[in-house]
Amino acid sequence: MDVSKFGEKFTQHSGITQLMGDLNDGLRNPDAIMLGGGNPAAIPEMLEYFKALSEEMIADGSMVQAMTNYDGPQGKNQFIESLAELYSQTYGWDISAENIVLTNGSQTAFFYLFNLFAGKRADGSHKKILLPLAPEYIGYADVGLEDDMFVSFHPEIELIEGRQFKYRIDFSSLNIDDSIGVICASRPTNPTGNVLTDSEISYLDELARLHNIPLIIDNAYGTPFPNIIFEDVKPFWNENTILCSSLSKLGLPGVRCGIIIANKEVVKAIANLNGILNLSPSGVGPALGNKMIVKNDLLKLSDEVIRPFYLNKVKRTVTELQQAIPDSRFRIHKPEGAIFLWLWFKDLPITTMELYKRLKDRGVLIVPGEYFFVGMQEEDSWAHRHECVRMNYVVDDNAMSKGIKIIAEEVEKAYQNA
Ligand SMILES: Cc1ncc(COP(=O)(O)O)c(C=O)c1O
Repeated sequence: MDVSKFGEKFTQHSGITQLMGDLNDGLRNPDAIMLGGGNPAAIPEMLEYFKALSEEMIADGSMVQAMTNYDGPQGKNQFIESLAELYSQTYGWDISAENIVLTNGSQTAFFYLFNLFAGKRADGSHKKILLPLAPEYIGYADVGLEDDMFVSFHPEIELIEGRQFKYRIDFSSLNIDDSIGVICASRPTNPTGNVLTDSEISYLDELARLHNIPLIIDNAYGTPFPNIIFEDVKPFWNENTILCSSLSKLGLPGVRCGIIIANKEVVKAIANLNGILNLSPSGVGPALGNKMIVKNDLLKLSDEVIRPFYLNKVKRTVTELQQAIPDSRFRIHKPEGAIFLWLWFKDLPITTMELYKRLKDRGVLIVPGEYFFVGMQEEDSWAHRHECVRMNYVVDDNAMSKGIKIIAEEVEKAYQNA
């Protein structure tokens, strides 16, 4: 097929696409233990809730109303207004409906935002996206319309007792010059479960304002919903911050609803992009979300069902992993949020790609860590890049125990054969 440069870039079968296909193939093996994907957990209470809510919305006509009408390019008004009130009341932020725009999933928001603030400018300059700390969310890597869109930096590694560790931004190496068009960080972070501290965020905010560039905070797992965050940190927003949230990790990835909170100029720009690319964002997720806010269920379920579910699960999984793999070279990133654990096998004699293959042969799917160092130079020889893997902790306890046992065996084998 003879295609454009755009076609070449966006139809390529990148390493991660291949891997994701591979992970998906695992689904065909009914016994596979799927620790690779990013699907939120099927929390029985939430599934029941969504079923009852959909039935109620069918009965009162609001579901059919949402399915049979286009909203405006900014997204469903009622939901936007409810969100503005919720954020102002919960956090005291000075935001109105003009500060919020919806997208078809937050992945689309990153496509818009990255290409809005980075890439070629009319004056011939080329701006990049600064990821202050890698590893970062793999989903950012391929959304740039141009190549070479990211710059990222090694984190500092703080070793924590109980064979844990935590990444911190190394501000001494963070170099911001005219080539940077925007700063972006996920908080909590996929893949590591890290949560940037309040002081890291306020320093990033200062740097962003100093250089007159926006700071994007990817809040897909954060507060006030779905609230899969276990650290007591302050939610952050101001006129220079673009806060991206989503209904996905609440348990609704199928409705594709992303939420951007930003200043009015950015909101207008995104609404225009929506108009051109989608006419309007989907209304079904927003109709569900709006009902949840009106019924006072959104924050209640996030606090009382979702957060405790994941917290309980992560504690259990960390304990099991630590018991199954006693090797002192094994550490887990401190689980501060999100739905993943980031495992570090220091001095592992094989690459994590090889470990991935060996685990896959035994029916356990994880993601090798190499892919998450978005924006790092190819020639960077930092060994740590090849020593980590990401696993989710959302599968049921039985499958998790079996998976952990197999991971422990393969890791031990790899260390022993060194
Ligand atoms: C950190 C992060 N940001 C954004 C997304 C995109 O989510 P969605 O497009 O479903 O809103 C994900 C999905 O896994 C994620 O982990």
